[in-house]
This record gives sequence, C-alpha cells and structure tokens, in this order.
Amino acid sequence: MNIFEALRKDHDIQRKLLEVLVDTSGNTKKREETFKALKHELKIHEDGEERHFYSPLIDIDKTQDHARHGIAEHHEIDEIIAQLEETEMDSSAWLKYAKKLKEKVEHHLEDEEHTFFQLAGKVLNDKEKINLGAEYNQYIETSREHEIEKAMDI
Ligand SMILES: [Fe+2]
Ligand SMILES: [Fe+2]
Repeated sequence: MNIFEALRKDHDIQRKLLEVLVDTSGNTKKREETFKALKHELKIHEDGEERHFYSPLIDIDKTQDHARHGIAEHHEIDEIIAQLEETEMDSSAWLKYAKKLKEKVEHHLEDEEHTFFQLAGKVLNDKEKINLGAEYNQYIETSREHEIEKAMDI
C-alpha cells in the first residue's frame, strides 16, 4: 500500500464517522462514543500524516506551501473540536459545531486528495511512496485504541 492509499483509507473512516455523528441527537451514548472515536481518529491521522507525509514534503520547494496550508487546516480542525468539547452535548450549538467540523474536515480531505496528492505524486518516487505508506500504517496501528469497525457501527 502506498502513502496515498494508506491516507485515503483513513479519510474514508473519518467521512463515515462524520456522517454518523451529525445524525446523532442530544446527550446520548451514541453521540458521545462517535465523537470520542472521531476525535481519536482525527488526532492519530493528523499526527501520522504530519510525520510521514507532510514532514518530508515541507522541505521541498514545490510542495512547501501546500504542506504548510494542510498543517494550518489541521489546527483549524483541532479548534472546532475544542469548541465541541466546551459545549453542552445536548444543546443546539453542539450540532451546529458538529456540522461545521464535518464541513471543514470534508473540505480538507478533498483538498488533500485532489490537489496535494497529485503534487506529492510528482515529487516522491515509487520507493518513497511505499515506504511512507508502511511507516504511516505502522504508526496508526500502534496508536489506534479501538477497533475501528466497531466504532463505525455504533
Ligand atoms: Fe490532513
Ligand atoms: Fe489526511
């Protein structure tokens, strides 16, 4: 699996969890558990992606601006998560922020998959793509604290 396939696989998990999240209501166990799973997925993905994808690309002229932009978006995503944590889970504001998070993350994933991956595909060679994919997957496997299939079904 190359780095692009590895990242896309986890992007799809995030998309699924976001769909489930905005469909939850009030202060329910499902909302709480989905939010917890999504928060964890976003965190380990951001960390793994910054270490094993953005980091090697931030030193290359062609990809530097995009790498910086992507990292800035990770911070914006973290800020919305902080807003959600500070808001009562059964308030209407919580769902508003959850929808904002969904929109922001979906935009970020689109941007990565449709723009940044194409650019990175031109500067990384085949061996680097495979090695980064393996390093990223290894990082995720050791960081993931739950069975993702279970989390997506709750
Ligand atoms: Fe990202
Ligand atoms: Fe990503």
